Amino acid sequence: MTALLSVESLSVTYGRKRSRRHETPPTVSGVSFEVDAGAAVGIVGESGSGKSTTARAIVGLLPSDGEIRLNGELLSSPRPAAVRRKMQMVFQDPTSSLNPSIRCDRALMQVLPDSFADADARRARAHELLEQVRLPSRLFSAWPSELSGGQRQRVAIARALATDPEVLVADEATSALDVSVQATILDLLTTLRAETGIGLVFISHDLAVVRATCDDVLVMKDGLVVEQGDVETVYGSPAQPYTRQLIDAVPTVDDARPRRLRHKQETVPRWVRPDSGTEPVTATSITQ
Ligand SMILES: Nc1ncnc2c1ncn2[C@@H]1O[C@H](COP(=O)(O)OP(=O)(O)O)[C@@H](O)[C@H]1O
Ligand SMILES: [Mg+2]
Repeated sequence: MTALLSVESLSVTYGRKRSRRHETPPTVSGVSFEVDAGAAVGIVGESGSGKSTTARAIVGLLPSDGEIRLNGELLSSPRPAAVRRKMQMVFQDPTSSLNPSIRCDRALMQVLPDSFADADARRARAHELLEQVRLPSRLFSAWPSELSGGQRQRVAIARALATDPEVLVADEATSALDVSVQATILDLLTTLRAETGIGLVFISHDLAVVRATCDDVLVMKDGLVVEQGDVETVYGSPAQPYTRQLIDAVPTVDDARPRRLRHKQETVPRWVRPDSGTEPVTATSITQ
């Protein structure tokens, strides 16, 4: 069976043009893996190990060497718009990926394909996408500032889904969120995979989250994949001492959070619009 996404010997070299006289070493090299429809592959590794570089190269935001195939078709560079639409990325910080002066449904309407010709059809599709990410309907035309972090990330995911992608690359997409909110977004990503057959490349420095979310995992160190395989094998009996070290370094929730903060509610920013009152609101008053 042809994999949905196939990456072979991917390497990325930053700044090659600027220093042609010297051979610039690649930042990432020899990354190979496959993602099947509906499956999730995790990429873990310390900060600076090359995860985001790999992510950006996969979706075509960075030039790379090696071969990337979508449904067996070798992708050319630069990528045609139709191919770019098929692979979307979700980033860590939904605040910076959403324009604060554009209401949520509008932000989606802007990125819908031209096949949704009139405003009514665009709005209907935008609302359908917001439903798909389980945003409460009363927030469909809210400003981004009126949403909690988790809700904003739902809108960012809906926006990524607007072009009907086959592959979603999530780069630390839950890392900025509180643990409890993180879990709801992980659930959403899993549900979306099952519902749509979308393939997920899930990047995180958090090994526990990857174990809970992914089928396969790649462990990166210094731009190389030092170990890869299905999560249970890699986490259960890592072949590399480096992987073992990473796994052993994972703090449990109880280690990481002081007791008094363990059940902390997610605090969302004050309404920034003038008509919106002054009390800060918490996750209990806004459905996640
Ligand atoms: N735009 C860039 N230009 C040059 N070097 C970069 C650039 N972005 C990242 N790097 C370097 O590439 C390496 C890998 O970074 P990155 O892919 O962001 O790692 P990770 O996401 O695993 O933390 C780091 O040494 C980083 O400093
Ligand atoms: Mg990164």
